[in-house]
Amino acid sequence: MKLIFATNNQHKVDEIRAVLAEGLEIVTLKEAGIDIDIPEPFHTLEENASAKAKTIYEMTATNCFSEDTGLEVVSLNGEPGVKSARYAGDNRSFDANIEKLLINLADKIDRTAQFRTVISLIIDGKETQFEGICKGKIIENRKGGQGFGYDPVFIPEGSTKTFAEMDTKEKGIFSHRRIATDKLVAFLNKL
Ligand code: IMP
Repeated sequence: MKLIFATNNQHKVDEIRAVLAEGLEIVTLKEAGIDIDIPEPFHTLEENASAKAKTIYEMTATNCFSEDTGLEVVSLNGEPGVKSARYAGDNRSFDANIEKLLINLADKIDRTAQFRTVISLIIDGKETQFEGICKGKIIENRKGGQGFGYDPVFIPEGSTKTFAEMDTKEKGIFSHRRIATDKLVAFLNKL
């Protein structure tokens, strides 16, 4: 089966390709010749994931999926959450977002957090969503040079390393995105 993955984030593509079953072909927006930056204007991951998948399905009439992910920090009342990409302001870098997070957590004792991914899959016009959660904690100083986003300051439960100290395969053992992708694959296998 061929599915368009509605993202421009190559890290997400690599992570999802690494855990996909054989027989499932993922085509990126770039590979499909689609050059758009799909907006994420809503207040929940579910609404943003849905809007991105619907945009691409309406443009291409091809089965597709999208995902939206947020870092939810307990002592920040779930922030940055759906605003994770723009936490330090529009067009700000991963580094600026981490900096803001560390400043906001400086006086907090509870540093527990989770990544939450919502995948929206559209097959023949019908949408289904899948959730993946990875619990962990935010450390005080960046560690590691791999991955993207908040990976250098997030240690998943069950590990002593940050996501940025892991390669894609090892991150996949713990990752929110892998858990949601596994659910998508199980769903497709039952069709
Ligand atoms: P998006 O809106 O789903 O593209 O992601 C929002 C932001 O969350 C990204 O810009 C990253 O900063 C962060 N993010 C998403 N997934 C991950 C991840 O697996 N590790 C670290 N940060 C992530």
